[in-house]
Amino acid sequence: MNSKREITLAFSGASGAPYGLRLLEQLVQADMNLSIVISPAGLMVINDETDFVLPGNPQKIQAFLTERFNAKPNQIKVYGKDDWYSPLASGSNAPNTMVVCPCSAGCLSAIALGASNNLLERAADVVLKEQGKLVLVVREMPLSAIHLEHMLNLARLGVSIMPANPGFYFKPQTIEDIVDFVVARILDQIQIPHQLSKRWG
Ligand SMILES: Cc1cc2nc3c(=O)[nH]c(=O)nc-3n(C[C@H](O)[C@H](O)[C@H](O)COP(=O)(O)O)c2cc1C
Repeated sequence: MNSKREITLAFSGASGAPYGLRLLEQLVQADMNLSIVISPAGLMVINDETDFVLPGNPQKIQAFLTERFNAKPNQIKVYGKDDWYSPLASGSNAPNTMVVCPCSAGCLSAIALGASNNLLERAADVVLKEQGKLVLVVREMPLSAIHLEHMLNLARLGVSIMPANPGFYFKPQTIEDIVDFVVARILDQIQIPHQLSKRWG
């Protein structure tokens, strides 16, 4: 279990916003404190793929998510992409666990190269340099050799590369079942107890 009970959750601009929002809900219910960063493309995807209409401003998104997920005051903090004064930007104060869900191919590349061009990329770079737990829920198809090389390099650094690949052996009946299959595996990676899906065997 995460000793600080703090997690950074980032949404980049890949398809798969329902995974990230279901994960957010589960983390709130597990009483984790969440630092959230949403890239501009990530915001577009959330608004395209779900019934959410997120405002553009981090404070308003924070208020919206706090109400929507019935979170405690200050349990959810949302930071803008250029908020270099946020705790996420420094190894001295950042959560040691971060999930990027969904993770675009562009975001994967930037993290693999240590680009740190915005707070999302910097936060991931901080978790890597501090040897924390980084989980990337990558979604792209097909994958090019560039994507695969970045994934291999990051996996060798201990990053959990978790392509959003649901299994079908539990015979999902709804989209929610499919989403929960993936979110359950992410929660397992960051050692958050859950009841989302059956276990094998
Ligand atoms: C609705 C929508 C769906 C997208 N789906 C994907 C995707 O599944 N995978 C991906 O790598 N990029 C996808 N993109 C493109 C990325 O958003 C784009 O490359 C963007 O620059 C990523 O920026 P970010 O990583 O800073 O969020 C999608 C864009 C939109 C608007």
